[in-house]
Amino acid sequence: MIVDDKLRTPGAVRDAERWTAHNYHPLPVVISSAEGAWLTDVDGRRYLDCLAGYSALNFGHRHPQLIAAAHAQLDRLTLTSRAFIHDQFADFCRELAELCGKDLVLPMNTGAEAVETGIKVARKWGYQVKGVAAGQANIVVAEGNFHGRTTTIVSFSTDEDARADFGPYTPGFTVVPYGDLDALTAAIDENTVAVLLEPIQGEQGVVVPPEGYLPGVRQVCTERNVLFIADEIQSGLGRTGATFACDHEGVVPDMYLLGKALGGGIVPVSAVAANADVLGVLKPGQHGSTFGGNPLACAVAIEVVRLLATGEFQRRSAELGERLRAGLEGLVGKGLVGVRVRGLWAGLDIDPALMSGREACERLAARGVLAKDTHGSTIRLAPPLVITEEEIDLAVTQLAEVLAG
Ligand SMILES: Cc1ncc(COP(=O)(O)O)c(C=O)c1O
Repeated sequence: MIVDDKLRTPGAVRDAERWTAHNYHPLPVVISSAEGAWLTDVDGRRYLDCLAGYSALNFGHRHPQLIAAAHAQLDRLTLTSRAFIHDQFADFCRELAELCGKDLVLPMNTGAEAVETGIKVARKWGYQVKGVAAGQANIVVAEGNFHGRTTTIVSFSTDEDARADFGPYTPGFTVVPYGDLDALTAAIDENTVAVLLEPIQGEQGVVVPPEGYLPGVRQVCTERNVLFIADEIQSGLGRTGATFACDHEGVVPDMYLLGKALGGGIVPVSAVAANADVLGVLKPGQHGSTFGGNPLACAVAIEVVRLLATGEFQRRSAELGERLRAGLEGLVGKGLVGVRVRGLWAGLDIDPALMSGREACERLAARGVLAKDTHGSTIRLAPPLVITEEEIDLAVTQLAEVLAG
């Protein structure tokens, strides 16, 4: 048996706290290796990953096809900058554009950069194509949104933790209640260039809007000549049992914002996909990134797109998601007061009288399951899409035990 003072975890947690800004409150688990849906910590303990890097690891840890692509690319070429063209670039952009059913792709790195890109493109489109008066462009966004952490993005956050004391804020955004089509329609005026929404609000606790909302948004955007920007950074690329969460309601936005899983859990890769009449407004010198669309990122992301093009991961997510749903719904009234499931993505509301989400995640970790609270007593499950039926059952069983006290 390992005695406590020989464990490496406490010292590693202490060092991490000592040497970094405290902008996160991680569970006290120190991971050193991973494979598929499983993580191993510095003391050799194994955990089932039920967060998957907030959906950045949809294909599991170290998927062989993705790792092979990364290794091969590392041996040839890693970075050129966009000053030159490299041999992975066109294939990535074409294959991703085809997956999205769009003309063009603009690659960036992080999700927040894709959102910033979407905002800039929409504003420019508004002035140059729609004819909005200079400096008047407005974008309608939703309460409870999470689109990232830049100063512009937190300017329209409704989460005070994310927003407070980071002003002065970027103007040009109108916040309306999520899921309320009348409110959204009323907020649109002649200066509105875009509606920016998550088709499912992940950070808010996997909040699924009422049926008909997304098609309604699509229709009003078309009627009023406003771009519909879908932030599919967390919801997209197989997570919900379809390639995009918008697919569940047959909705095609004008712009997809993608990130997280696009990098295969290996490198940060994000992108905006849209048609030429929208993305074509950008000209040389007006937007860019040193690392955006680099050879390593493109080589990995090409394989990500190819994995998605098989449909296997979307299918797994849809089928296994039903098993997850059945298991979790069985816990409503037994410690859970609400459950929302779309594919392998679940928001769970724990009875606040029992424990906080944080407490639940700490207890789950002690039982070998890693998940993350979103706020209050809500936790999110987003396991890698390579998870098996038995592993889903294991997660549900451990959760049941935690809720039973
Ligand atoms: C819907 C959504 N948009 C944007 C982001 C920001 O992505 P990143 O953290 O890569 O900047 C996130 C991250 O959680 C997200 O969930």
